[in-house]
Amino acid sequence: MSYGMTRREFLGNAAMTGTASALGLDAASEDRAVAAEARPQRRASFDDGWVFSKGEVENAQLPHVSDGAWTPVQLPHDWSIAGPFSQDEPCGGPGGYVPTGIGWYRKSFKIPQSSGRRRISVFFDGVYQRSDVWVNGQHLGMRPYGYIGFSYELTPYLSVVGEPNVIAVRVDNSLQPNSRWYTGSGITRHAWLVTTDLVHLAQWGTTIRTPEIALDRAMVEVSTLVRNEQGQAASCVLTTGILDHSGKTVQTDAVRGTIAAHKEYVFKQRLVVEKPSFWSVATPHLYTTRQTLACEGVEVDAETTSFGIRTIEFDVDKGFLLNSERVKMNGVCLHHDGGAVGAAVPERVWQRRLSLLQEMGCNAIRCSHNPPDPEFLNLCDAMGFLVMAEAFDEWREGKGQTPQYGYHKYFDEWGARDVSDMIARDRNHPSIVLWSAGNEVPDQVVPRGPETLRKLLEIFHREDPTRPVTVACDQVAADPKPAPLEFLSQLDVVGYNYADRWRDRREKYYSIDRHAYPTRRFIGTESVSMRGARGVYAVDTDDPDFGRYTSNARIEVEQLQKFIQTYDYVSGDFIWTGIDYLGEARWPEKSSSAGVIDTCGFRKDGFYFYQSLWTELPVLHLFPHWNWKGKEGEVIAVTCFTNCDTVELFLNGKSLGAKGFCFPRTGMAGSYGHYPPRAKALQTTADLHLTWDVPYQPGTLKAVGVKGGQTIKTVEISSTDEAAALRLTVDRAAITTGRSDVAHVTVEVVDEQGRMAPTADNEIAFTLVGPGKILGVDNGQPDSHESFQGNQRRAFNGMALVLLQSNGRPGTMRLSASAAGLKTAEISVVAG
Ligand code: GAL
Repeated sequence: MSYGMTRREFLGNAAMTGTASALGLDAASEDRAVAAEARPQRRASFDDGWVFSKGEVENAQLPHVSDGAWTPVQLPHDWSIAGPFSQDEPCGGPGGYVPTGIGWYRKSFKIPQSSGRRRISVFFDGVYQRSDVWVNGQHLGMRPYGYIGFSYELTPYLSVVGEPNVIAVRVDNSLQPNSRWYTGSGITRHAWLVTTDLVHLAQWGTTIRTPEIALDRAMVEVSTLVRNEQGQAASCVLTTGILDHSGKTVQTDAVRGTIAAHKEYVFKQRLVVEKPSFWSVATPHLYTTRQTLACEGVEVDAETTSFGIRTIEFDVDKGFLLNSERVKMNGVCLHHDGGAVGAAVPERVWQRRLSLLQEMGCNAIRCSHNPPDPEFLNLCDAMGFLVMAEAFDEWREGKGQTPQYGYHKYFDEWGARDVSDMIARDRNHPSIVLWSAGNEVPDQVVPRGPETLRKLLEIFHREDPTRPVTVACDQVAADPKPAPLEFLSQLDVVGYNYADRWRDRREKYYSIDRHAYPTRRFIGTESVSMRGARGVYAVDTDDPDFGRYTSNARIEVEQLQKFIQTYDYVSGDFIWTGIDYLGEARWPEKSSSAGVIDTCGFRKDGFYFYQSLWTELPVLHLFPHWNWKGKEGEVIAVTCFTNCDTVELFLNGKSLGAKGFCFPRTGMAGSYGHYPPRAKALQTTADLHLTWDVPYQPGTLKAVGVKGGQTIKTVEISSTDEAAALRLTVDRAAITTGRSDVAHVTVEVVDEQGRMAPTADNEIAFTLVGPGKILGVDNGQPDSHESFQGNQRRAFNGMALVLLQSNGRPGTMRLSASAAGLKTAEISVVAG
């Protein structure tokens, strides 16, 4: 039965809800007040009450087919993360060896009696992948790309008010391999029910730009698309208020327009904000537009949109300028998974991860290689990250890992649509400063590549003339077939993946192209990071971990960073990656250890390298651990990441000498040639790390860091005793009852003196009592095949992680951890 109301029903509702004057009927103003209250939420969460069935189900789109035996789930939901990991899974190493396949979701819902509205749509933030959606048996559409938001109108197919409706979603992630990394499977992001009047603000219809910005005033240009889906013209007033970050209204403007029947209309407004607070990395001030649409005197729609006032520029000589100031983009690439939670990532998981990156000094994120969850961009806006938002990993040409089923399969039909939707969805985020049309697309080097790029750029520039566009190119100087100028010269900013990859570029980096193309704008879209598995150290050359631990990534990273930090014209660089991610691995590993933070969110040694270079915090980090029983007398390289002028190392009280490195060189900063030498410090190396060859003897290594003549940091690493106990610490002892929140409990195996046992791998069991659940467990170990969803986990190099979530009821949950032979530990988390 159809939900579409008859004209009479609509008039009836209108009278009831106070839209009477819009229709020429009598209506008292108190009716209007009632109407405002009765109006259903414009955008209501549609995450609850779903059921799920893994595998193909015949005719599951038909409402009468029973779903009684299906599993209740809440969105976001990712069925792949439940595992188990198997070498035989068709997604293989790229996908992280997880189950994929087909899955069905259904939800029964009613439209509340109070609804006086006419247009009801469902909106999905992302479904991986190839989703088909039906309501009451009616097919609404198919969407192949798993990272794009999309909506369908339900209105014509809904049952009468109060009667149940059945929405069914079939997700087909069975065509494998279709990705070079872990994707997750299912409705992996939020879903929403959007209810509007026939005359309404269009989805993604509000575009906010700030074309003129000065210190004392900013011009805010708001263009608002309104849709009239009724059979008569609507005379409307759009009121736009601008609220500052404290919630105070700083400007309001109302504009009138008549929208013809079944037509769209763009309202244009220009509002001035006096003495604007600029959005920047250090002070990410946000403004919000609050818009109301009133037609024939009755408010029919309202929405808020946040934005920032800031200028961006990629200068040929100075690099990236934010509000006219040079900001080196010290960036990381990130995939979309959240470790143990897979692709269904609660907001708090990202918030914690982003805070860690900020602590490291990272100020820029590349969303590799697909549009992220909208919540992620909201966090970047609020926290002050510069974002390079990327559309695709493939255009028309496939890649070796995804020969049949990668995105190239859909590009011709969907590419333009997906890219315009991404821009329309995301263009108001002040954090986004650069679009990337793609990553390492093989189209760079094929004859039709420049034309494909031209068409994509046309869309980017048309939909958003305010931001430049790049492509992350890995073939700039490829031998024998480099990306042609016809391709590269179209880019607003040329993105280099692994700028040092080709021949003399290993030493010369960007300088060759800088001389050849003096008007080119440069950015390092990807480079190798100080990678490695957390806490894995090997000192014997025949140890299989030796190659990994001593890889030459360290030298590459340091040399490249010296170049990037020295030459302004390179806007910045994004390391591959900030955080470990699932997939892109080779069995027995199921996740990549390219990051400087592991999948648990635990810092690796490399974290401190970037922190020492990218922040002013006093950094002195020493590694490896000092538990080398049986290696007494053997030489172990003790390494230090620091920004102290000098560091003196002591073993059991005896000095092994002070060292210091030489960077930046005199004259590179401050007024030219007058940069003070670093406190006349000892400079023993041009590397960006210090190292001592230390014959092992158990005891304590102590490092004393001096800056400006003062000891600013002292660090000790001791040989630990036998593991004796467990220790639990939590990032926040109080969380909300909502599902976006999570408590992260760090589990450590410690000795009697409370020192973390750096090689402990005890099996730990967890018990939770109280109103919550264990959302996931992890230890960051790339080759662990334990389930992320169990209530036990082995420690990996002394540590593990438990994610706790409220079950929606307030109260205290208690987590206890136990392991054979170790003292148990307990911790409480209050949800309220
Ligand atoms: C890059 C690619 C990334 C990732 C990385 C692994 O070339 O853009 O997606 O595959 O290599 O090192």
